[in-house]
Amino acid sequence: MEKLRDAINRARAQRGPDAAPPAATAARPAAPEAARPAAPPLRPADDTDTAWAELAAFDPRPAVLRRNRIPGHPDDPGFPVIDLLRTKVIQQVRNNRWKRMIVTSPTPGCGKTTLTCSLALSFARQRDFRVIVCEVDLRRPAMAATLGYRPTAPRQGFSDVLDRRTTFADEAVRIGTSVAIAVNQSPIRNPSAVILGNQVSDVIAEIEATYRPDLIMFDTPPLMASDDTIGFLRNVDCALIVAAAELTTIQQIDNAERELAAQVSVVGTVLNKCRFAESGYGYGEAY
Ligand SMILES: Nc1ncnc2c1ncn2[C@@H]1O[C@H](COP(=O)(O)OP(=O)(O)OP(=O)(O)O)[C@@H](O)[C@H]1O
Ligand SMILES: [Mg+2]
Repeated sequence: MEKLRDAINRARAQRGPDAAPPAATAARPAAPEAARPAAPPLRPADDTDTAWAELAAFDPRPAVLRRNRIPGHPDDPGFPVIDLLRTKVIQQVRNNRWKRMIVTSPTPGCGKTTLTCSLALSFARQRDFRVIVCEVDLRRPAMAATLGYRPTAPRQGFSDVLDRRTTFADEAVRIGTSVAIAVNQSPIRNPSAVILGNQVSDVIAEIEATYRPDLIMFDTPPLMASDDTIGFLRNVDCALIVAAAELTTIQQIDNAERELAAQVSVVGTVLNKCRFAESGYGYGEAY
């Protein structure tokens, strides 16, 4: 017995204090429950989780996404670039404690809606970063068509949420577990009156209080097309600018940056529709 104890002590001394226990020791019968460190308790679902879970689920169809240039699969062009942009946005908003971001452009057709939807899908892959995406383009709404979202039950539109004719809970749909979108099905006649309404900031604050997203992202009209976006700026912290190669001039980008920077932080400018993207980014002819 004495020899056996000596042998065990020698072996322990050789292994050192941090060595893993030998297989024989690990295979010993389990210690009683009380002796084990307590497992961390599962986080109980709170009101926020319930609010998210209660949103109707929407699963965009891959064929629609591909047709509309939304990278939804790792093999799709632009997939790594969009994920890179998503991660940079997450870093910036976290570092600066920004909570609300618009996506805008100097002129029409630069790809704001395509980029917003691409980011939404990319955020949905992230899961631990909750994002709400709202369409504030009430003149040429395109998010529903871009994502192939056709509600089965009649829905009104995010413009009606802003105007308090319906609730966000009734209007929004959830992509995965961490992204909610609220879109418009058709243009409305008085967009400025809705967007510039005094109730808008309260509506957004209520959405934020209920769903506690890490970020609310707004797809907005082009800056040069109307006063909608400039008027909406008082509701956000920051702006992401989308410019289109061979379409947007440097002067237009400069003007947009200056105009936005007078009221909010500018996250950056994305050069879209670039036919000669660097091969290192693996994106061929896209963003
Ligand atoms: N990277 C891209 N390469 C080629 N075409 C693109 C790219 N991104 C978007 N498009 C196309 O450009 C058109 C306009 O895109 P989108 O609707 O996203 O622009 P927008 O800036 O939201 O327009 P609007 O100013 O009308 O809101 C669409 O047909 C879209 O498929
Ligand atoms: Mg658009």
